[in-house]
Amino acid sequence: APVQAPDLQSCQTPNIPATAADPSCCMTYRAGTEIIDFMPPPPSSPLRVRPAAHLVDKAYLAKYEKAVGLMRELPDDDPRSFVQQARAHCSYCNGAYDQVGFPDLDIQVHNSWLFFPWHRLYTYFHERILGKLMGDDKFALPFWNWDAPGGMTLPAIYTNKSSPLYDERRNPAHQPPSFLDLDFSDTDLNMARDQQIDQNLKFMYRQMISGAKKRELFMGMPYRAGDAPDPGAGSIENVPHGPLHGWVGDPRQPNGEDMGNFYSAARDPVFFALHSNIDRLWHVWRGLSPGNTDFADADWLDASFHFYDEEARLVRVRVRDCLDPAAMRYAYQDVGLPWLDAKP
Ligand code: C2O
Repeated sequence: APVQAPDLQSCQTPNIPATAADPSCCMTYRAGTEIIDFMPPPPSSPLRVRPAAHLVDKAYLAKYEKAVGLMRELPDDDPRSFVQQARAHCSYCNGAYDQVGFPDLDIQVHNSWLFFPWHRLYTYFHERILGKLMGDDKFALPFWNWDAPGGMTLPAIYTNKSSPLYDERRNPAHQPPSFLDLDFSDTDLNMARDQQIDQNLKFMYRQMISGAKKRELFMGMPYRAGDAPDPGAGSIENVPHGPLHGWVGDPRQPNGEDMGNFYSAARDPVFFALHSNIDRLWHVWRGLSPGNTDFADADWLDASFHFYDEEARLVRVRVRDCLDPAAMRYAYQDVGLPWLDAKP
């Protein structure tokens, strides 16, 4: 059977490090709140085209900053507030909810086949809330294009200290022009830039092509109702997704906050750009070969989650509702795939 959307009423103390400065993790929930089933946006609604973060212009940046600023200003208990958005990630990742019917088993949306769909839906609602707050129904999140040389630094738009896109809990050594190592594991190798690019592109080739020929290898292992969490992550979730979180997070904090730990990761606005690119690569993978198709297993298709939408309504949404970005009315700027021929 599929993992079911959690009972928001029974949010529990999360499993997070004892040294966490602020352990709040539960999403706001009022007993009796009506839960509606997800409906895709009308086919006639405008297409939101997500731009590469390193290529955006001033007008776009001004809008994005305004939207995130408005989101940060919402009262903490508004389900659309920045604080609540970050908590949604924490609660689905740090064991705040039990699986419905299995009080001894946590819901965990990482390290399994739920990783791509959960994060797609999470960024989808985040984007629509941002658009709604400033009254722009075309607003699209940027994606951090770390799979191309031009995107292999922390995107500059996030580094302005007076911007709502800034987060002070980041590694000071990894500010631009510090160059990204997609396979980062705690130590900077300080490779020559060309060599690092070459290595990053080869990594991408491996994670997207040679090491992702089987669905489970790319998307992660099956995780059904009653299964223990963390059956196994797909290639991209492992690397570079994991290393990217660690690379951005602040080593001066006790647990690599914000980006370097699940519970705090979504307190950094760059989280959403990192995950837009993850989402884009899922979409790209499906177009690379006729064999690259989503799971047809009903336990995947019918797995469900709860999110708050741009009207602050509580929505129940299934994996099968999120398989077609065009139907969800968003797309990605076409920036090419420089790793396609980076065969090691
Ligand atoms: Cu839910 Cu990048 O992690």
